[in-house]
Amino acid sequence: MKKLLYLPALFILFQHTASGQDSKIAVRVDSVLKLMTLQEKVGQLNQYSGRVVTGPVNDQKTNMLNDIQQGNVGSMLNVKGVKDTREIQAVALKSRLKIPLLFSLDVIHGYKTVFPVPLAEAASWDLDAIRASAHVAARESAASGIHWTFAPMVDVGRDPRWGRVMEGAGEDTYLGSLIAAARVKGFQGDHLGGTDAIMACAKHFAAYGAAIAGRDYNAVDLSDQQLWQTYLPPFKAAVDAGVATFMNSFNTINGVPATGNSYLQRTILKGKWNFNGFVVSDWGSIGEMVPWGFATDLKDASLKAITAGSDMDMESLAYKNNLVQLVKEGQVKIELIDDAVRRILYQKFLLGLFDDPYKFSDAGREKKVMNDKTSYLVARDIAQKSIVLLKNTKELLPLQKAVKNIVVIGPLAKAKRDLEGGWIVESDTTKVISLYEGLLARAGKANISFIKGCDISGTDQSGFPAAVAAVQQADVVIMALGESFEMTGEATSRADLSLPGVQMELFKAVKAAGKPVVSVLMAGRPMIFNEIAEQSDAILYAWYLGEQGGTAIANVLYGDYNPSGKLPSTFPRSVGQIPLSYQVYNTGRPVKNPKDIKYKSAYIDELNSPRYAFGYGLSYTSFSYTGLTLSAPDMTQDGKVQLSFTLKNTGKYAGAEVVQLYLRDLVSTVVRPLKELKDFQKVMLKAGESKVITFSISKEKLAYYNHDLNFVAEPGFFSLMVGSASDDIRLEAKLELK
Ligand code: BGC
Repeated sequence: MKKLLYLPALFILFQHTASGQDSKIAVRVDSVLKLMTLQEKVGQLNQYSGRVVTGPVNDQKTNMLNDIQQGNVGSMLNVKGVKDTREIQAVALKSRLKIPLLFSLDVIHGYKTVFPVPLAEAASWDLDAIRASAHVAARESAASGIHWTFAPMVDVGRDPRWGRVMEGAGEDTYLGSLIAAARVKGFQGDHLGGTDAIMACAKHFAAYGAAIAGRDYNAVDLSDQQLWQTYLPPFKAAVDAGVATFMNSFNTINGVPATGNSYLQRTILKGKWNFNGFVVSDWGSIGEMVPWGFATDLKDASLKAITAGSDMDMESLAYKNNLVQLVKEGQVKIELIDDAVRRILYQKFLLGLFDDPYKFSDAGREKKVMNDKTSYLVARDIAQKSIVLLKNTKELLPLQKAVKNIVVIGPLAKAKRDLEGGWIVESDTTKVISLYEGLLARAGKANISFIKGCDISGTDQSGFPAAVAAVQQADVVIMALGESFEMTGEATSRADLSLPGVQMELFKAVKAAGKPVVSVLMAGRPMIFNEIAEQSDAILYAWYLGEQGGTAIANVLYGDYNPSGKLPSTFPRSVGQIPLSYQVYNTGRPVKNPKDIKYKSAYIDELNSPRYAFGYGLSYTSFSYTGLTLSAPDMTQDGKVQLSFTLKNTGKYAGAEVVQLYLRDLVSTVVRPLKELKDFQKVMLKAGESKVITFSISKEKLAYYNHDLNFVAEPGFFSLMVGSASDDIRLEAKLELK
């Protein structure tokens, strides 16, 4: 653990090494830096929040506008819209050096157009659709004065008690890395500087998803091997995709707060990965090093944070009030301040703000982009792709013409705000299509009736009799159940993952009436719903799908869209299994027969297996996997082997299958999990159509971080597995690495 200790001497400064354009900007950055006083330099490292508050209020702040005019602020968060950003930018332009402000916002899943929550989008396994969603969000934000989003969140999350799993891409490092890159490219476009691109921010660096017991803001205890193998790769993928900024995080890692962590920010990010952007703290996280017991006061916290590589202070006011003094006392070298300022000015130049500080605040463009009548189609497309079909007994779905009477029951059937999901920029429920409305629009001559039955939370069961009575007339019952939008996102850890309130009782009462029940479950995390899983005739996991949610669900229910989503997270059977991922170990005492568990690695009161496995998701059609071949039975370190097989659509509908390649290193110096996802393809096939699918295996797929944290592929045998889910492997072969 030596490496994670606080290392004041270790810092790596910003280097201007890139293209001709970059060095031109670097010259301009230096020309500004030369003119700046120490106070003005520190000002660039200070970020204030506007009217909207997304964390604890800092009551030290006095006159924000005056501070901006004095050059004491480099960036604002939570200010948006052409009017407001123009007004505040005008104040910054009254400062001595007229350095423009950066406006930032949490654009998590859409700006005006509300897309599915990030975890839902991850269920699409569709990188183009994910990139397109981020791109629309960027275009709309960039037309509304925003330069910078605090997204994507690339934290691997394996604990659904942690409410922030909603903001990420699920549990898997490989899938999460590809999605991280897709989102960065979606936000930033081909390059920054265009008016439809904003800076992305890979957060929260690092390992926030491993907070102990799923409790937000908690400590993280993690081996270096797990850090490198599981939690860091999505961040590296973001760097490789050109991400402009990073945000550090609230958690400690093995005792050292991420915000004051030189190993993470200097050695790895700015050193080994040569990241040339800048790092913003999380909300108040520099100040929080005091209650953590890592710093004596804000001055000490500032010293530790700037030394460790945190360039910008979000809302702690620690840098603003202490850095000048620390430099004067010789505790902080001016080179450290210059480095942080350079990084920030560099991005301001890259965005074009020195040439036109109002470039992103153009009322004409704002109006035009916000009224773009095509953006909702992008939202509908990915909403359909995000839905996961968990169960479909006797092909109840898609609904057939013979279904004349549909009764829709449940507190989420007419919900609109919940469909938008947590953490949106602004709610506009007039645009949101509820499940009920989506069905009404699609159902043609069928009768659709609605009974709420109960609220999301609370104990009131007085609506049950009406619900049960209504069911008597139904050919099919659709139940819309789940969490409220406020139950996931920041500060929403739950210790109990069952359906809130009396929803499960409502389900049982309705189901007892004996009609076919389709459960449509909405949430921002994997919930636990065992009776629904066992007793429903069909189940759609519909997350929070955004403004087009109702249409998307109706399209899937009627088969206009054949579901293709696959779970990006394991769904446990009980809270006691958490944290649970498909990446389990065989152990020395594996369970071969669930009836024989004595002295085996098992629970006496629960199965080891999840309710639904990572990668699982059904389709209205079926697929066969046949004829696996390897181009060679073995390969050398610099060789390549092609794995091929035939995928056939054996059902009666056209559909997309996400074929997944997993691997196990059978004997290794650090024990590897039973399966690790190494590749996948989303393949669209017409009914009866088949296609030869090929995956290329090279050393990178076989390698992992060993004890010395070297990324190595060790000679020996590997099991290669191809399947439709992590627990539905259809074909298997052995490969030897020589
Ligand atoms: C969250 C960040 C967010 C920031 C600004 C913090 O509380 O952890 O993810 O970007 O607030 O709103």
